[in-house]
Amino acid sequence: MANYDVIIIGSGPGGYVCAIRCAQLGLKTAVVEGRDTLGGTCLNVGCIPSKALLHATHMLHEAEHNFAAMGLKGKSPSVDWKQMLSYKEETIGTNTKGIEFLFKKNKIDWLKGWGSIPAAGQVKVGDDVHEAKTIIIASGSDVAQLKGVDIDEKTVVSSTGALELGKVPKKMVVIGAGVIGLELGSVYKRLGAEVTVVEFLDVITPGMDGEVQKTFQKLLKKQGLEFVMGAAVQGVDVKGGKATVTYKMRSDDSEHTLDADTVLVATGRRPYTDGLGLDALGVEMSERGQIKTDGHYKTSVDGIYAIGDCIDGPMLAHKAEDEGMACAEGIAGQKPHVNYDVIPGVIYTHPEVANVGKTEEQLKDEGRAYKVGKFSFMGNGRAKANFAGDGFVKILADKATDRILGAHIIGPMAGDLIHEICVAMEFGAAAEDLARTCHAHPTYSEAVREAALACGDGPIHS
Ligand code: FAD
Ligand code: NAI
Repeated sequence: MANYDVIIIGSGPGGYVCAIRCAQLGLKTAVVEGRDTLGGTCLNVGCIPSKALLHATHMLHEAEHNFAAMGLKGKSPSVDWKQMLSYKEETIGTNTKGIEFLFKKNKIDWLKGWGSIPAAGQVKVGDDVHEAKTIIIASGSDVAQLKGVDIDEKTVVSSTGALELGKVPKKMVVIGAGVIGLELGSVYKRLGAEVTVVEFLDVITPGMDGEVQKTFQKLLKKQGLEFVMGAAVQGVDVKGGKATVTYKMRSDDSEHTLDADTVLVATGRRPYTDGLGLDALGVEMSERGQIKTDGHYKTSVDGIYAIGDCIDGPMLAHKAEDEGMACAEGIAGQKPHVNYDVIPGVIYTHPEVANVGKTEEQLKDEGRAYKVGKFSFMGNGRAKANFAGDGFVKILADKATDRILGAHIIGPMAGDLIHEICVAMEFGAAAEDLARTCHAHPTYSEAVREAALACGDGPIHS
């Protein structure tokens, strides 16, 4: 069959970006994808569909809660769930077709089907064996199973099922107060479901800055989400399309139950490498099922590389994309670099939550001397006008050098605002550099400048 310089397995953000960069660098490239459409988890059942539903339901929330106060009177919109799902499907379609267009434009072959690696230098798809100098595994991740819980994608759903429920449930139990649980829990809360989130730990969104965790949970509670914290789910029973969730409180071992029409299991994802034949090839794996790679994405087998969710690091689309570009450039002889200290994370609830770099807890653990500059969106004119005064920007800077070490934002457009701090950190900037940069008025980004000012002589508007 055909010979390629590079064959990439998987067309998610890692795989498709890697393929485009390979092609731009003059490498003859093919991508193997088993789904019917390109784009991986992110475009088909992840980032894009979830953001479409978050956007639509946020519009509903605005209409129900803030329109009248702005003088926009009349009946609130009613929900046509079927139409909302079609809007989501159309959004997926335009995005996945966009990748197909980019493949054609860059002369990348799509080898349709599920691939395996019979030997280094060979990729088997169906009955065809293709040859490649380099193979890159970008096979992504899948839902992690929870002991005692069978996901049927009807009553007990993963994020995939939750993106296409037949109807909006009256009662939903979400297992796990992580990113998926809170984003999709917010969607169904806004659509009128009673949503209870059951979380194993005593805090939501583990790993996030503690102050943000507290404010975030308080704001979600204000929106009507209920939380059962410190609770270990034991199992879910389904009878006649209704579910009963049993959980044990970790503090006193007491057992409790919750009834639900739909249970969303959102307790993490696992690297997906099934069917690739990595065992037989002798590719080294970590205990958590990730493909082990060196700093250049090389696996333990010559000529085989791996990127994205199936290797170590945060399971984020932009992390996979950056690895895809760097991997391609490395193969083409360049010297690329991914700065893992400056990878932002965003939760697309309302308000949004975004972070980059160190949390205050991490700095304390490391025994570092740091200062905190904080500014509330209540002091930002634009936010007040837009009913978006909840939340704050928090910048952590080195006490001696003023260099920015981390930033945490909860508030309007946090997912966009974080990037000026990412750029500043990439350039090794001090908080004062941000504070002395003129920011247009009235913008939300003035809150970032004020937080930077708060690292020095103090903010102006608080
Ligand atoms: P994937 O996107 O998982 O793609 C892997 C592809 O490989 C799949 O299409 C799969 O079919 C294919 N494949 C696997 N094995 C084979 C094989 N043997 N042969 C052929 N094809 C194969 N991240 C963000 O940064 N922002 C978000 O807003 C966000 N939202 C999310 C929402 C949800 C509900 C979920 C589930 C995830 C979300 N993520 C988000 C995470 C994001 O989707 C992943 O981090 C990202 O998709 C990883 O990209 P990847 O290329 O490594 O793998
Ligand atoms: P997660 O790791 O973010 O959260 C899982 C939560 O479930 C944790 O809080 C954990 O303590 C809890 N948990 C685990 N076992 C439990 C149990 N038995 N009972 C109760 N709670 C339990 O995982 P999630 O939300 O499934 O997301 C998976 C991945 O997808 C994340 O790594 C994230 O990076 C990615 N993602 C990113 C998004 C974004 O960037 N906006 C959106 C959605 C997903």
